[in-house]
Order: sequence, then structure tokens, then C-alpha cells
Amino acid sequence: MRLAPSILAADFTNLAQAFKLIENARCEYVHFDVMDGHFVPNLTFGPPLISLARNLTKIPFDVHLMVSNPGDYIDLLSELGVEIISFHIETIKAAPRLMHRIQEHGMLASVALNPQTPLTEIEDILPLLDNVLLMTVDPGFAGQKLIQTMFHKIEKLHTYREDRELMFTIEVDGGVCEENLESLRQLGVDMVVAGKGFFQAKDPVLFAARVHGSRRRFHA
Ligand code: DX5
Ligand code: ZN
Repeated sequence: MRLAPSILAADFTNLAQAFKLIENARCEYVHFDVMDGHFVPNLTFGPPLISLARNLTKIPFDVHLMVSNPGDYIDLLSELGVEIISFHIETIKAAPRLMHRIQEHGMLASVALNPQTPLTEIEDILPLLDNVLLMTVDPGFAGQKLIQTMFHKIEKLHTYREDRELMFTIEVDGGVCEENLESLRQLGVDMVVAGKGFFQAKDPVLFAARVHGSRRRFHA
């Protein structure tokens, strides 16, 4: 699986060091949790911090918009060189138009689903999507425990993709840790987000290697 550490769980007094760690661990993306205090009960950061981060690392950016008006941020994020944008299906009635706008800017379009939002909400637009971000915790905070009943949802989405030969990737976000990595891999997850699981691991580089499935490097 690919790994996108969530910068929300990093030490904000030393972001340069956090990016260095992410690079050393050979992570494929950095995950940015943008929260507006409206769609979710928490406020984090926005484009200014992402812009600052862009000057600190070349790793591709995976931006998770937990905001009520995701459309307001697309142009700005595109100018900042973001690679993936996830917006929440709960916030919007015209998802295909927004997805198209994201893709027109050369970015990957991803839809995020809260744990309580059923897959039927996105079934008809799946062929248009590059990525689906399944939340495995209620959005708003890092460091929560993965909701176990989400395993069934991941499995369903994976089966749906295989049956219809669709191309979107599956990203899982919330409570990912050592203990559930193997189950997520077996369920066909392509990418995991990890905040606490990465930044508070005894050895984040080893945690990343476990996500990547390259344990051999450490047994040699
Ligand atoms: C939750 C965020 C997650 C969170 C992940 O609202 O979307 O990306 O930062 O943090 P952990 O891995 O600690 O649950
Ligand atoms: Zn997130």
C-alpha cells in the first residue's frame, strides 16, 4: 500500500523536520486535513500553510477538504501544485462538475465519505473518479480509533470496483495503525493515511516499510 502521513499529527513547530521524516520513510504523499470549523467541529489550516509546505518538500500533496464549500479552494490549490483533492460528498449536490474542475486543472479528483454515508451516494459517479477516500473515523480530529464496521464498507467498494473493472483507487483515512495494516491490505486498500500511527510510531520509517510491505529491508 501507499502511505500519506497526515501533517495534522506532526510537530508544527518543526514542519521542515516532519517533511524530512516523510521523505526518509519514502512516503508517496503528504496528507493535509483542511477543516473549516463548520463542516467539522474543528479548525486547522488552509492554503497559506500548504503553500509554505510546498517550499519545504517535493513530495506530492494529498489535500482532504473537510469544508462546507470545497469549490472555493480548487483554483488556489491548483496554483500551489497539489496532486490530489478530496472533497466530501456530504457537502455537495453537483459532484461531477466539481470533479471535472479538479481534473481540468490536472489534479486527481477524489470523493470522501463519512463513516455513516452509504456507498450508494457515490455509486453512479464512481466511473468518473480517480480516488475514493473512505473515512474510518468521524472527521474532525487525528488520533481516533478506527471504526471496525468500516471493514465491510471497504470490502464492498473493492468488490464493486473489481466487478465493474473500474480504475479508481481506494484510500482509507482514520485510526490506521500497525494492528490494522494487514487487514486493510487484504481488503484491497491502495493507500492509507496515518497521523498518530506514523508520527507517534516508535520508528516511523519502520511503520512506513510495513505499510509498503517491504519488511525484508529491515530483516537483512
Ligand atoms: C480526520 C482526518 C484524518 C486524521 C488522521 O478528520 O481526516 O486524516 O488526521 O489521523 P489519525 O491517523 O491519527 O487518525
Ligand atoms: Zn484526512
